[in-house]
Amino acid sequence: MSSIFTPLTLRSVTIKNRIAMAPMLMYTGQDDGRVTDLHLAHYGARALGGVGLITTEVVAVDRAGRISKKDLGLWDDNQIEGLTRLSGLIRACGAASALQLAHAGRKSTAGERIFAPSAIAHSDDALQPVALTLDEIKGLVNAYGNAASRAAQTGFDCLEIHAAHGYLIHEFLSPLSNLRNDEYGGSRENRWRFLLEIVEAVRKAWPEDKPLIVRLSAEDKAGEGGATIVDTIGLGERLKSLGVDALSVSAGGLTPTFDGEIYPGYQVGYAEQIRRALNIPVGCNGSITSSELIESILHREASDLVYMGRELLRNPFWLLNVAKSAGANPELAIPAYARATGPYERGH
Ligand SMILES: Cc1cc2nc3c(=O)[nH]c(=O)nc-3n(C[C@H](O)[C@H](O)[C@H](O)COP(=O)(O)O)c2cc1C
Repeated sequence: MSSIFTPLTLRSVTIKNRIAMAPMLMYTGQDDGRVTDLHLAHYGARALGGVGLITTEVVAVDRAGRISKKDLGLWDDNQIEGLTRLSGLIRACGAASALQLAHAGRKSTAGERIFAPSAIAHSDDALQPVALTLDEIKGLVNAYGNAASRAAQTGFDCLEIHAAHGYLIHEFLSPLSNLRNDEYGGSRENRWRFLLEIVEAVRKAWPEDKPLIVRLSAEDKAGEGGATIVDTIGLGERLKSLGVDALSVSAGGLTPTFDGEIYPGYQVGYAEQIRRALNIPVGCNGSITSSELIESILHREASDLVYMGRELLRNPFWLLNVAKSAGANPELAIPAYARATGPYERGH
């Protein structure tokens, strides 16, 4: 019996199976952060392919928070229309949708002035960031709240806050990138404050019946002194108490190097530890490309959702092949696709 094709419900949203498309920046936005036809085709294809939850790439809450000049954005009302079209298209293609809110912090390549909790560059080649003032930090918390209000108008099913991979929120969380000595730096509680304030602002603006997901790097993987899984479990507990419904668990990204081995499912253990410690739904990711590995992850209840990235770039219809070999009869937006997943028969 396949576990992949069992639904998962978060608040009022039911995800029809356990496969989620990982957020992946496609660098195809308009210069003003609006959606293009390429986004519609790209996400639509994976939704038609049967993926349960489609997560968008980063959507910047502020112009200076773009990773590149081709990022999507939600800092302006005129960006709502394209994202509304995108959520409608994903729904019509049969999947649940999640919009990922982000700020690139010191990893932005979109502007001449880039911002971080402290003036420490991401790498030797990166621009030197400017340390945010207290007023600017408050302004960014508001920017997240405003972007969440706009997201509520787009019709997306879920909202995700990107707090992983060395972008602005993660830069606050880590003692390696946050050397502030005000209320946003120093102790663990102070380093968490920026994210916790953002979650409060977002939860207020985002509909009560819709799920909020936070993506975290479980460990910094950037050498001595970084945040550990114990820290992340502590943070996850706080997030859960503020109304976060699920955690998408990744790792690293704070620096260009990853301090660890990479193999299929190399980050699953973190998701499993968080799930067991906090009893909160989790998603895992990282070089997961085979249905056998996914069945094993789900069967031993290490994760509730499995996020797939590059495999779905190579093969948007990956799940149809899995359904065929598992003999499953998945729910598909175009019922005739079931002719491709059923038993051997003449294709008349
Ligand atoms: C082209 C590309 C763009 C990415 N962009 C994002 C992003 O916008 N937001 C994010 O949280 N992760 C991003 N990631 C990381 C993926 O979500 C995922 O964690 C990573 O690719 C590992 O999963 P995989 O081995 O299945 O590809 C990106 C990865 C790739 C390959």
